[in-house]
Amino acid sequence: MSMPPGLPGKLKPGSRVLLRTDLNVPIESGRITADERIRASIQTLRRLQQARCRVLVMSHLGRPQEGRYDAAASLEPVAMALSERLGEPAVFRRDWIDGVESKPGRVTLLENVRFLEGETGNSDDLGRRMAALCDLYVMDAFGSAHRAHASTHAVARYAPRVCAGPLLRRELRMLQRALEKPERPLVAIVGGAKVSTKIEVLERLAEIADELIVGGGIANTFMVAAGLDIGDSLHEPAQLDLARRLMKSSPRRRATVPLPQDVVCEIPGSHESVVREADEVRSGERIMDVGPKTQDHYGRLAARARTVIWNGPLGVFEDPRFAAGTKALGHAIADSQAFSIAGGGDTLAAVGSFRIKSKMSYLSTGGGAFLEYAAGRTLPAVEILKTVAS
Ligand code: 3PG
Repeated sequence: MSMPPGLPGKLKPGSRVLLRTDLNVPIESGRITADERIRASIQTLRRLQQARCRVLVMSHLGRPQEGRYDAAASLEPVAMALSERLGEPAVFRRDWIDGVESKPGRVTLLENVRFLEGETGNSDDLGRRMAALCDLYVMDAFGSAHRAHASTHAVARYAPRVCAGPLLRRELRMLQRALEKPERPLVAIVGGAKVSTKIEVLERLAEIADELIVGGGIANTFMVAAGLDIGDSLHEPAQLDLARRLMKSSPRRRATVPLPQDVVCEIPGSHESVVREADEVRSGERIMDVGPKTQDHYGRLAARARTVIWNGPLGVFEDPRFAAGTKALGHAIADSQAFSIAGGGDTLAAVGSFRIKSKMSYLSTGGGAFLEYAAGRTLPAVEILKTVAS
């Protein structure tokens, strides 16, 4: 994939820069519970501030009903967190689409773009009105790059100048390194509850990875496809054919898909758990994690890897009884020599809780965008930058 152009070498002091970031962070009772996306935006903001630009920051938060204000989806708490991280107040503007005053070197956070009619419908009219606010539109929201919305797409058609921000370009470079010309062996890990939400990424990674480790409900579905009895464990009968196909060797598919040799099951009606061989799960039991032999096996695969791409946990890691599999794999990746990239909310939460953040080569801010890129799809918000800028 070619790269969209980056920030101009010389930014004119006083110029109005409209920056699309992804500050869609989880907020519970007014408190931000994970601020990676805020922290990831700071470098770009500082660069624009240092160049004395007037910085107008757009983002979405949640999925409010379009066309009206909803206090629960307001970016106001994010403005406070941003101010703390910047070490100076970020101005917050609730009404902004008809014009907003700002000073050189100042950061102004604009209220949730999804309160505006036409945002998710990629309205031309709204894109034009956004573009009228700036001299330069900078798209830096990798997490929203799979969305063709007014603030990620239409605006780029009308802004006087457009470019990709440093964070977006870094994300693309890191993913390209892991997926386009990976140092081998490439180990891909795809965990999570459902195969159906990750079909395309599983298909693509089965083609390009050397090992494809599946986890969680996805692994259970693969186990059933391999003829194993998994008791009452979460799985998707409708995806068994896909799982069988992905485990079969073919000239197009390079990856082997190792299955768990042993698992940790929850005993029905009790708080107890037990380690079972993969072919000894009893009826009524539910698989919640991989067992120690599987941890060793996957740990060896991670230790040998030169590249690791990781999305989704191996078990229900939020429950300490079922965290060991994901934790062991995380530590094996962290201790390996591999170029390692992790993405997705659950994966970043796992990496955070096992305190191995600093040992991963790169933590992506993308969830859906990460999966779409890894699945080989083009990202509309990146494509439009290339088209308009060429
Ligand atoms: C995300 O969290 O994946 C992005 O912010 C995109 O959010 P969306 O799925 O609501 O468009």
